[in-house]
Amino acid sequence: MRILVTGGCGFIGSHLVKKLLSMREIERVINLDSLTYAGQPYNLVDVENHRNYKFIHGSINDIELIGEILSSEAIDSIINLAAESHVDRSIGSVNEFIKTNIDGTRCILEQIVEHKNKGVDINLIQVSTDEVYGSLKPEEAPFVEETPLRPMNPYAATKASADMLVQSFVNTHGICAAITRCSNNYGPNQFPEKLIPLMILNSLEGKSLPVYGDGKQIRDWIHVSDHVSGIIATLKAVEENKVDSPFVINFGADNEMTNLEIVETVIEIIGVGREMIQFVSDRPGHDRRYAMGYGKAWELLSWEPLVMWREGITETVEWYLSNPEWIESIRSDEYRTWLENHYGRD
Ligand code: NAD
Ligand code: DAU
Repeated sequence: MRILVTGGCGFIGSHLVKKLLSMREIERVINLDSLTYAGQPYNLVDVENHRNYKFIHGSINDIELIGEILSSEAIDSIINLAAESHVDRSIGSVNEFIKTNIDGTRCILEQIVEHKNKGVDINLIQVSTDEVYGSLKPEEAPFVEETPLRPMNPYAATKASADMLVQSFVNTHGICAAITRCSNNYGPNQFPEKLIPLMILNSLEGKSLPVYGDGKQIRDWIHVSDHVSGIIATLKAVEENKVDSPFVINFGADNEMTNLEIVETVIEIIGVGREMIQFVSDRPGHDRRYAMGYGKAWELLSWEPLVMWREGITETVEWYLSNPEWIESIRSDEYRTWLENHYGRD
């Protein structure tokens, strides 16, 4: 298999690239990443000289570049993770989200059609999110693949739009695609604008821990390695023609926890006091609860999450403690300015 991964320098993408390069059946991995503030080449320092790996600095909005890579590298499948991924930033401005998440996906789709018209079939694995389903009430059952799309924030709306574009290209142009929807990931290398790494770094630096609203919002936290194994299981099922197109698949971890419980676990592992928690203004339009039903993934892909929460979060905290050089590498001026503008000084 010859794979084009987009967004491979980000959190999930970098774990995926490393896993793919460890697999015998993967002949080539091309990583196309435009290196936004969230893209860290340092995440892939261990594999940068791997003989089957190539990094290309460029954007999924560059339709010619995509076409060139698909042809020159004889790509079989594209795994599209490139995205603007932070909900809070999409509330400030949705421009970049529309550009990358929707129009970038459009560029990929158009190139797949162009290759199909020349007799070359290329599969797409579109990495989407549970957020496209909206927010659950406490008594409601977890989302399933048939749950109607009801995105509630600008980021989620751009991801849902991309999903719909993919579905429309399957229906109209007969391309082969899968859409994966996963719950909240945690693990090493996550950019510290997201809840868990932000709380870890703030705890280490003696800063306050900003919990939005009442902190009772619920997410279904999954270790990044389990998400990666789900994406790879999907890739294989598509490559082996074992599933219909478009194949929509959910991944979750039966691990619903409130944000407050998450923060309490982090501070307990690090050993700082509860007085560090500071309740701050709520996120506008904050989704109350996400939970993913993954029965289809178990039934069709024999997939299940393997990492237990307590083990995964302890290992994650330890990773941040023992990688100060990584933390330094992500502290750009852009990131510092974001923290100041969003949270103010403390
Ligand atoms: P991330 O923000 O850590 O990484 C995104 C990567 O995409 C970065 O390396 C960035 O440089 C790159 N990128 C951005 N715009 C680009 C462009 N125009 N062209 C090429 N590269 C570009 O994100 P993540 O948390 O690793 O998420 C990856 C994907 O998984 C996203 O599509 C996201 O919607 C989805 N997802 C994330 C989660 C989660 O909990 N983090 C859960 C479910 C789905
Ligand atoms: O559910 C999957 C999604 O998970 C992905 O599609 C997104 O790319 C990813 O960013 C993540 O979105 P969330 O908004 O759920 O993640 P975040 O880490 O930003 O926030 C998790 C919860 O913690 C959410 O309820 C908001 C809250 N929060 C977050 C931050 C950054 C706080 O209370 N304080 C904070 O400072």
